[in-house]
Amino acid sequence: MKIRNATLNDIKAMDAIAYPYWDDYQQWINEEYLASMINANSEICWVVEDNGIVVGFRACKDDSENRIWDGLICIRKDWQQKGIGSKLFKETNKILKKKGYRCVYSECYSENTASIRYQLKCGRKILCTMPKFYADDSDAILFYFEL
Ligand SMILES: CC(C)(COP(=O)(O)OP(=O)(O)OC[C@H]1O[C@@H](n2cnc3c(N)ncnc32)[C@H](O)[C@@H]1OP(=O)(O)O)[C@@H](O)C(=O)NCCC(=O)NCCS
Repeated sequence: MKIRNATLNDIKAMDAIAYPYWDDYQQWINEEYLASMINANSEICWVVEDNGIVVGFRACKDDSENRIWDGLICIRKDWQQKGIGSKLFKETNKILKKKGYRCVYSECYSENTASIRYQLKCGRKILCTMPKFYADDSDAILFYFEL
């Protein structure tokens, strides 16, 4: 298992991993969006490879001087529940900390049980619920993590 910075050459693989999870109203999570994340700051976007196959990614965004917005973390379905998502979060947090960031924010659908369990397992804390945060009026849960 290897974690490395994402490049624009990874976009198709990243989009293929993310695509099954987003339905109609999340079509903005597409190749164009992923490319914009990498272009914005490729130093804080990573992919995980298993024997040369991209099996997951984490794409973050600089939110302020010392804060990171965890845009997307996604693991390929057949590689899930093997500890890869946790390892990706833990290992890349070390890089973020070295870069001087102090905390990570993220949000997810309040019905996304796998993500909520995952985020809590990674040590994130729930900050609040944001009612009707998404375009379809679904609620979001806002998490934070101190680096
Ligand atoms: C959320 C996600 C990134 C987790 O990745 P993963 O590699 O499967 O996570 P891990 O194997 O490290 O699991 C860590 C913990 O997460 C929880 N978890 C992971 N998948 C789960 C599932 N399908 N159902 C319930 N809990 C789950 C468990 O608590 C697990 O710990 P445990 O195995 O000791 O019980 C992955 O399921 C995914 O890509 N989901 C789709 C995209 C998404 O919703 N991303 C997050 C919001 S942007």
